[in-house]
Amino acid sequence: MSSNLILPEPVEQARTFWNLAHTHCGQACRSYHGLRGILHGAQIINGLRVDAPVLGPALAERLHPHSRVLIAGAADASLLDLVISSTTARPLSIHVVDLCPTPLAFISSLAEVAGVSITTEQNDLVDLAQTEAFDLIISHQMIPFVPAELRGTVLKRLCAAMAPGGVLALTIVTGNPATKEDHARHLAVWIDNAFARLDAHPELAAVLGDQLREVILDYAERYRSRQGSFASPADIATLMEDSGFHVAAPIRSHEGEVSKRASMGRRNNLFLATSSSKA
Ligand SMILES: C[S@@+](CC[C@H](N)C(=O)[O-])C[C@H]1O[C@@H](n2cnc3c(N)ncnc32)[C@H](O)[C@@H]1O
Repeated sequence: MSSNLILPEPVEQARTFWNLAHTHCGQACRSYHGLRGILHGAQIINGLRVDAPVLGPALAERLHPHSRVLIAGAADASLLDLVISSTTARPLSIHVVDLCPTPLAFISSLAEVAGVSITTEQNDLVDLAQTEAFDLIISHQMIPFVPAELRGTVLKRLCAAMAPGGVLALTIVTGNPATKEDHARHLAVWIDNAFARLDAHPELAAVLGDQLREVILDYAERYRSRQGSFASPADIATLMEDSGFHVAAPIRSHEGEVSKRASMGRRNNLFLATSSSKA
């Protein structure tokens, strides 16, 4: 048994996600989960990688032997990997909740890690059990995936699931509300970059064969347009405070993106929050 998570090599990971998505995903998330391995392998999506230098140490500081961790929305195994590799504290128990069985099936297929117990649950976070079960709850860029009218409910559930003294680590991208033209331009740049990177990784592109173009365009249309759901860090802080959290000032978790996409005022934020009613 290894002391850290062992992830398959990129082509195998790409193939596994593509196959799992065809077995488990509905139409709505098939391109999203089916492309996880390919987009990571070709470094087309960088969300967690760019947040990790700030998020990893913040998690490490809050992880102790016997910590009970909730990963709220997984998509793949990257966040789980970050949690496990950020600390030598053991034993840890990590519970992963996702709406879709694909990331959970991927996680369940991985070899066990010494001193870490991993459980999975297919559930909507709107229905998360309200038992005070977790010392650390981590959510990475998940809130924009939740319909706006349900975001408060999800945050209240996370607050209810937090043990006394627990912490929520929530990362989220904020940006100026873009115009339709901004979005279109942003999307076009993203698509060009994705195809250029896939040209440089023919072994990953080959996993999708002649479906590649259609699936990448579907992904871009469905998911990239969710960027900038929140205009400013204050918007999300207010939502968190209204949902029962005491929120520290957000930490800018990625600087580079700011200058690259200055026109959208984009920044990655890490919010660390405690319950305002539990000690
Ligand atoms: C956590 S987010 C983003 C993941 C990744 N860290 C990133 O930056 O791209 C995406 C995941 O959240 C899951 N998800 C979205 N809404 C959810 C909900 N209401 N309850 C549980 N999981 C949800 C989706 O199925 C998806 O796998």
